[in-house]
Amino acid sequence: MCGIVGYIGKEKNALKVLINGLEHLEYRGYDSSGIAYILNDKLIVKKEPGRIMRLKETIDFNNDSYIGIGHTRWATHGEPNKINSHPHNSEHITIVHNGIIENYLELRKELTNKGYSFKSDTDTEVAAVLLNDLYKKYNDIIKAIQEFKNIVKGAYAIAILCDKEKDTLYAIKKNSPLIIGTSEDANYLASDVPAIIEYTNKYLTLDDGSYAKITKDKVEVYNNDNKLIDLDIKTFDSTYENTNKMGFEHYMLKEIHEEPTVVRRTSNIKTIPNISKYKKIVITACGSAMHAGLVGKYLIEKYANIPVEVEIASEFRYKKLFIDKSSLVIAISQSGETADTLEAVKIAKKYGSTTIGIINVKESSIAREVDKVIYTEAGREIAVATTKAYLSQVEVLALLAYKASKEKDLEEIKKFINDLNELPVLIDTIIDNSNEYKLISKYLYQKEDIFFIGRGIDYALCMEASLKLKEISYIHSEAYAAGELKHGTISLIENGTPVIGIVTDKTIADKTISNLKEVKSRGAYVIYVTTDKLAKKGDFYDKCIILPDINPLLQPLLIIIPLQLMAYYIAKEKGCDIDKPKNLAKSVTVE
Ligand code: F6R
Repeated sequence: MCGIVGYIGKEKNALKVLINGLEHLEYRGYDSSGIAYILNDKLIVKKEPGRIMRLKETIDFNNDSYIGIGHTRWATHGEPNKINSHPHNSEHITIVHNGIIENYLELRKELTNKGYSFKSDTDTEVAAVLLNDLYKKYNDIIKAIQEFKNIVKGAYAIAILCDKEKDTLYAIKKNSPLIIGTSEDANYLASDVPAIIEYTNKYLTLDDGSYAKITKDKVEVYNNDNKLIDLDIKTFDSTYENTNKMGFEHYMLKEIHEEPTVVRRTSNIKTIPNISKYKKIVITACGSAMHAGLVGKYLIEKYANIPVEVEIASEFRYKKLFIDKSSLVIAISQSGETADTLEAVKIAKKYGSTTIGIINVKESSIAREVDKVIYTEAGREIAVATTKAYLSQVEVLALLAYKASKEKDLEEIKKFINDLNELPVLIDTIIDNSNEYKLISKYLYQKEDIFFIGRGIDYALCMEASLKLKEISYIHSEAYAAGELKHGTISLIENGTPVIGIVTDKTIADKTISNLKEVKSRGAYVIYVTTDKLAKKGDFYDKCIILPDINPLLQPLLIIIPLQLMAYYIAKEKGCDIDKPKNLAKSVTVE
């Protein structure tokens, strides 16, 4: 989702810093980009649809500028063309924006009645025109910002340049991420740390409703009540940061190869709280994080004997909730910025529930909002499709289920810890087996529909495997509860339709195998994904992927690896833009 960068410094290299920053935000997903900067006392705006490369071609990097703002746009209002791209300018004011101005149509009408006209279809241009109008009213940007906050509804992180104050940047933040980076010789604005980490690891986060005035050697932050506040400057810990592809063709493949290390780092059971006292747990999240939640539901219900509901965060926000002070709400998010999940946490807190976040990005908005945060230690994930972060989320949920499970004897604890220690080695061996998945992928990539079926926890894994496949390969795919096929979906099975069956739970293995036989007899090409103990000879499958057995709490962590790899290899065979699938964004900061 949109990315923001801002720079003001003593060195006149704003153009390089802005473009470099935008390139580091590419992972968020975008369809156009732009910058605005001051050159020889004049404001220059450059913007282009498509990749940042196109924008770069329009810029003369020999030009000196010491102040500017930049933006990658993920279109929400109006198509991704040059006019709709940011920055947007209205007379004295030029802005870039991430978020959605909910009352923009109403505001646009009011401003049109006042005599203003608009070039673009965006909500952002409305914000620029409004800020300019307020600036002209007060002749003071801070006052204009204060009134802007009272008028505008929605989510916004905005960086502002004013042609009357060419040595100052302004910023406002509400419900969309924005940080300020500080250093001796320059100050920065960014949606996320990677945009500025090359220049400084000192940064401060802005609370909702706050705004800032930034010069090259001073940062002033005002809170929602318009009070100047002390700066809480943090240091970004970049221990795990390696944002190179390290010789891998794609970030996604690199990130899958990091999974053994990630599970080792995340496996610290001492940091896991005991949730056994809760009578009811609700897990809320979006996309793959929600799928991790579904795996967690099965594990917590089975091992800790606590009922768990999983609610998609965008649904949680608008439904009748049955939670109170005695409930625990667990929010799962890689980015920690997903707007729906963040809002779900705020709602849960209003109900008096305790909130735990399973979050990857340190100090992100959700990490700061929840009562207790458990970090997943996956390190920065750049590929839009999550792999290692999903795995670490499942691991934390398995650890929560284990810790809350009934009295364990010493022997059992020892065994679990051994299994946990063995996990990275087993994941490594599965990854080493990639040739097998490559071969299957060569057969599957030309297919138009691929189905995944399973029961119980295997169904939760099917949902993630199917999402991974469709989002990066654009092949239509569905995950189905195996027993539900007969109630409609089986009519889609034709000669050669691939059906991937996941079978890891021995108590229901025979049931799923029966369902695989049903599709096989209707011509499906069946791939049986199972464990050593449940592997069996039979004519109900065409291919079999056999994975090592481990403690059932940890089994899902092994099963998903070949399916992530197959999604990757299928997308590669199809020549897809694997790390940046079309229309998707890494950090979904609008609802
Ligand atoms: C799919 C994927 C998305 C995210 C979802 C939530 O591969 O990455 O479905 O899981 O957008 O994002 P976070 O975890 O950042 O809240």
